[in-house]
Amino acid sequence: MSVQLDAEGRLRHLLTTEGLPRDLLTRILDTAESFSGVLGKSVKKVPLLRGRTIINLFFEPSTRTRTTFELAAQRLSADVLNLDVATSSTSKGESLLDMLHNLEAMQCDAFVVRHADSGAAELIARHVAPGVAVINAGDGRHAHPTQALLDAFTIRRVKGPLEPLTIAIVGDILHSRVARSQLHVLRTLGAGELRLIAPRTLLPRHCEQFGARLFEDMESGLAGADVIIMLRLQRERMSGALLPSESEYFKRYGLTEERLQHAAAEAIVMHPGPVNRGVELDPRVADGPRSVILQQVTNGIAIRMAVMAMILGGYNEPAIASASDEEESG
Ligand code: CP
Repeated sequence: MSVQLDAEGRLRHLLTTEGLPRDLLTRILDTAESFSGVLGKSVKKVPLLRGRTIINLFFEPSTRTRTTFELAAQRLSADVLNLDVATSSTSKGESLLDMLHNLEAMQCDAFVVRHADSGAAELIARHVAPGVAVINAGDGRHAHPTQALLDAFTIRRVKGPLEPLTIAIVGDILHSRVARSQLHVLRTLGAGELRLIAPRTLLPRHCEQFGARLFEDMESGLAGADVIIMLRLQRERMSGALLPSESEYFKRYGLTEERLQHAAAEAIVMHPGPVNRGVELDPRVADGPRSVILQQVTNGIAIRMAVMAMILGGYNEPAIASASDEEESG
């Protein structure tokens, strides 16, 4: 049984994009669209989660995800705590579940969790009290659902409907929770053609299951692509020699201005960050006119607002402009 949906199909937790129906994904994107309107106003707040408490639990480093979750919660008027896991009592031997139950005793409403182990967010979701929500901010190589949602949102905003688009995901697919979550979202939303471009050593076994075409060379994989999503080499998850060297990798799989010529004329370049310049991406492309990398970061706030509003605020209608107008005039 799905842990993340209730009996009526509403989001209770967000743990993975796998299995989420198209209408729910579309509702998240539409809700984020309406929150984008709020973020453009002088008062960037709505009172939807006033009095609710959200705890960020990041067991792995993060710049974009943690800060945009925090900003999103603040924009919804929730109270936010960032637990510094490194200085927490886990270093004295307290178990993850003991820690959770103690934080729950402080009457929190949700945990946003990043963890190095695949399945950690679901484990936590299975142990929290009824009424406490868990949002996965990235677990191992398993899933990063809000990243995939903000990526789909960015593609839809810049390129329009996904159906006619050819979308290429390039790089370390094997270790990428982002790629897994993207493939589920993009396929469910009806993207025209999905491609994976990577050396064979960086492709997961049985990756045909994702319904994507596989390419080992950049030139043929990029041919005519409308969207190019570059991925970082996740050295921290690699064991053994999967690659000759970073400079060799850049020679074969780095996205340069020359290689970009193979893609469609108006192709956009995306990257979830952090970017390793000169390893997967030429700085001239990262900072060039086709790059929407910083738009992805901005869109992360609206997507995370939408997810928290739907889970914690019972928010199912993408029409909140009037709430922000009230705040602004009041
Ligand atoms: N995209 C992403 O997850 O970035 P951070 O690791 O900085 O959160």
